[in-house]
Amino acid sequence: MPLRSRRVPGVFITLEGGEGSGKTTQAVRLCQSLTQRGYNVLHTREPGGTLVAERLRSILLERSVEPMASETETLIILAARRQHADQVIRPALEHGTLVICDRFSDSTMAYQGYARGLDLKLLRTMNDWATGGLTPHLTVLFDLPVTAGLTRRRSEAVSQNRLDLETERFHTKVRAGFLALAKREPRRIKTIDARQSPNAIARQVETLVLDRLGSLRMKPPKHR
Ligand SMILES: Nc1ncnc2c1ncn2[C@@H]1O[C@H](COP(=O)(O)OP(=O)(O)OP(=O)(O)O)[C@@H](O)[C@H]1O
Ligand SMILES: [Mg+2]
Repeated sequence: MPLRSRRVPGVFITLEGGEGSGKTTQAVRLCQSLTQRGYNVLHTREPGGTLVAERLRSILLERSVEPMASETETLIILAARRQHADQVIRPALEHGTLVICDRFSDSTMAYQGYARGLDLKLLRTMNDWATGGLTPHLTVLFDLPVTAGLTRRRSEAVSQNRLDLETERFHTKVRAGFLALAKREPRRIKTIDARQSPNAIARQVETLVLDRLGSLRMKPPKHR
């Protein structure tokens, strides 16, 4: 039987959104704030999070790699996710850790499903198989107009990866995909307007997370 994340003592929170929508900025701030409140927090990211998964990430994001079918891309992502779930996420949750993950399954649905056009139902089944049914307790979606996100990304010193080079039309489909996912699962996925200032967004993220921790009755270990 699949191990659903809600049966474990930890809490699993994912941050989702398009390129440059502020996921990493907010993940760092959220981890700081939760650590200050006494929680044991683990900040991780996808694709990646383990040695094997980080190697798979390099293959995925390398620009000069040979042409890659959407199916190949999906299988690599799911292989990395399985490794990450087994080696990092599930053990942390079993130890009662609060896991904050930068991208997870919803990115696969948005990028490989809604944007690349792979069958959504099949993707969901494959993703469930790859993760053993691991589902976030809360997902925060940072919604930003595509041009704003790409401008933010392009203003950074880092080089453009394979997905940054996709067309604006592709990124528009990614954004619409994320919004469709949020509409389908309004209890799990909460959307934030990512055009706001980092401080305003951080306050909203914190409220959403503390509310969810409250409803899951998760207190910081030292307050137990
Ligand atoms: N609310 C904000 N307003 C303006 N700029 C922001 C905001 N949040 C983050 N940024 C800036 O935008 C850029 C992208 O932010 P960040 O790396 O957090 O996004 P991301 O969603 O993690 O991107 P990626 O998908 O590329 O990993 C950074 O230069 C960051 O400083
Ligand atoms: Mg990031």
